[in-house]
Amino acid sequence: MNEITLRSAKQVIFGTGTRTELGEHAAVLGARALIVCGRTSLQASGALDELREHLTAGGVAVTVFAEVEPEPSLDTVERGRQALRDADCDLVVAAGGGSAMDVGKAVAGLAGHPQPVAHGTEITGLGRPCIALPTTSGTGAEVTPNSVLTDTVTGEKASIRGHALLPELALVDPELTVSCPREQTAYSGLDALTQAIEAYVSTGANPVSDLLAEESARRIAGSLRAAVADGANLHAREEMALGSLLAGLALASARLGLVHGLAHPLGSLYHLPHGLVCGALLPWVMEYNLGAAAEKYERLAVAVGVRGSPANLVVWARELVDDLGADLDFAEAGLKPEDFGEILPPTLASGSSGHNPRPVDEESVRELLTRLIA
Ligand SMILES: [Fe+2]
Repeated sequence: MNEITLRSAKQVIFGTGTRTELGEHAAVLGARALIVCGRTSLQASGALDELREHLTAGGVAVTVFAEVEPEPSLDTVERGRQALRDADCDLVVAAGGGSAMDVGKAVAGLAGHPQPVAHGTEITGLGRPCIALPTTSGTGAEVTPNSVLTDTVTGEKASIRGHALLPELALVDPELTVSCPREQTAYSGLDALTQAIEAYVSTGANPVSDLLAEESARRIAGSLRAAVADGANLHAREEMALGSLLAGLALASARLGLVHGLAHPLGSLYHLPHGLVCGALLPWVMEYNLGAAAEKYERLAVAVGVRGSPANLVVWARELVDDLGADLDFAEAGLKPEDFGEILPPTLASGSSGHNPRPVDEESVRELLTRLIA
């Protein structure tokens, strides 16, 4: 049996209403918290004020860094680190979607790091503690040891990784996702489903990640359409939040696959949301992997309630992606053969592509990209 490595936040608390416990948990970890969040949605939903109140009630002083943009940059992490130093904070509370959590984790993990942040930076030391509160059901970033960040100089979008990026506490309250808009619910949900499926068939998959990934896919398959149709459906939101958390735990152990290898270069080149690109690529990559992952697809089909051959699972995925409006026309989005030379090197170099069940080389990726625009 292969070596099994399990990674997670040090503590994970899941449940509706658990956000009210923020103050008591934060008080154990620090006295001055920097809330790292996006520019608008946490404010608009009232969650920012509420989280601030919970922290204050726990005796924790609060400074807010509400400057995280979608698909965030290394520069934003630098500004966040400066805000942490300026306010002399000893704790980060990262609240929001994957972008806010990725920046918050990096600000905390790199707090004591003397150098400016850069891709390839070796993340040493334990940094500051971070509490991650997801407000979307998608990335699972609350339990993963990486942050996806864009270098605005080179345009490169890549992960920084390391033990120091694992949060001290993941506080997953499905009620925080109720205000997530329809489109974002669909896209982030497809990201979570993609992560569950890629972790399940990854070459890094193991008996523990398989349990997590299969259960994740089962819960997401049973609730994503309902969560998109009615955002106030708390049961569907709970199922999605748990599915997303399980997918995060699975990928933190098993890694991902070719969808994620392609999603970063395609996303940054054509400015597409991560979840949309993942969903749109998923059926194509599942088809590519069909021969190499047939046995796993067969088991996954049973888990999500699809009958028949493994190929039917691909049909099911395509229908779900279409229904949720993520059937992206790649040619219309800008993909063209002249760009393949720019897309191929980061795709082939990515650790995700390296864990794809069917080996990936220049010719096969070129062929797949050509099919996307045929
Ligand atoms: Fe993802």
